[in-house]
Amino acid sequence: MSSTTLGQGAAIAFVCVLATSALSQDADPQAIVDAQFAAAGNQKGVRASGAKGVCVKGSFTPTAEAASLSKAPHFAKTVPVTARFSMGGSNAKISDKTKPVTRGFAMRLSDTTGDLVLVIISAPVFSTKTPKQLLDFATVRAPGPDGKPDADKVKAFTAANPETTKQGAWLNARPVPASFVGVDYWGVHAYTLTNAKNEAKVVKLKTVATAGQLGLSDDELKAKPDSFYADELKDRLATGPASFDLVAIMGEAGDPTSDPTVMWPEENRKSVKLGTLAIAAIEPAATCDVATFDPVVDLPEGIAGPTDDPMFAIRSPAYAVSLSRRSAQQ
Ligand code: HEM
Repeated sequence: MSSTTLGQGAAIAFVCVLATSALSQDADPQAIVDAQFAAAGNQKGVRASGAKGVCVKGSFTPTAEAASLSKAPHFAKTVPVTARFSMGGSNAKISDKTKPVTRGFAMRLSDTTGDLVLVIISAPVFSTKTPKQLLDFATVRAPGPDGKPDADKVKAFTAANPETTKQGAWLNARPVPASFVGVDYWGVHAYTLTNAKNEAKVVKLKTVATAGQLGLSDDELKAKPDSFYADELKDRLATGPASFDLVAIMGEAGDPTSDPTVMWPEENRKSVKLGTLAIAAIEPAATCDVATFDPVVDLPEGIAGPTDDPMFAIRSPAYAVSLSRRSAQQ
């Protein structure tokens, strides 16, 4: 599948809208979620990804510039936020020390008119570019009778799908984060922001940690227990909120919008600070567990996901399958 890029015009956009439903059906969401659960031994009552995590609450305060890019009410005043930090994958017992695994940041910015949900990860790229590729990626990683994936199958899949190695390579080149709030997170999809004058801009969204990139050295990592993120966050928040800047990286002609395995050259792109996310306190897990953070459906006017990226649309039905399965198993 070729990447659609900015600047290819309305005709392509029209074709892409038509193509989206077909593309998003190239694998069944139920089958993908089954494969995601199987990869960690089908644990009960947990998420298909981000199974281990911490629920928090806080607020989002927009900059003055945010409203010039988006008419979403969440970019016009301070709004409450419910969020969840997590470890990638369906293993609720995964060690916080695991590498290369993305850390996740799901957030719901609430307004009386509706929510704005972003579900983002500690890497600028996703592991796969189509649902079918994600299904195969998860399926080859299913544990065999010895409890481990078949190394030859993983090797063959990787050789045939080289873009699926980019996320792991990016994570492996960086230290394990010392804190859920000591690392940047990316919304790997291209979003369109539309302001009150109906002027649209294509952007990628990123949260930049005010604390900076807090990485653990090999020795520090060795000394840590398998679960330290929840306590670290609790201790940190006891002394005051932890914050992130929400930043829009402005797309330019040629930047791909249909393939979340491709990173835009951020250092050469203008970026605009949309506001500050302040994480204030730990919230009971139930607050986050009762629903799913749906990054597709829960978007207000003024911010829209890509219509030509098949990984985006399929997130909604997949998250619903996981929610209904874990709710039934509680
Ligand atoms: C493409 C970029 C994606 C990113 C950045 C991403 C990130 C995340 C994160 C951070 C979570 C944890 C949410 C929470 O704490 O509640 C999550 C959950 C989940 N993800 Fe994704 N994901 C992506 C794509 C997908 C796709 C394409 C699928 C399947 C087709 C998928 C399936 C799931 C499922 C089933 C859950 C569990 C939802 C729940 O039970 O509430 N994700 N994802």
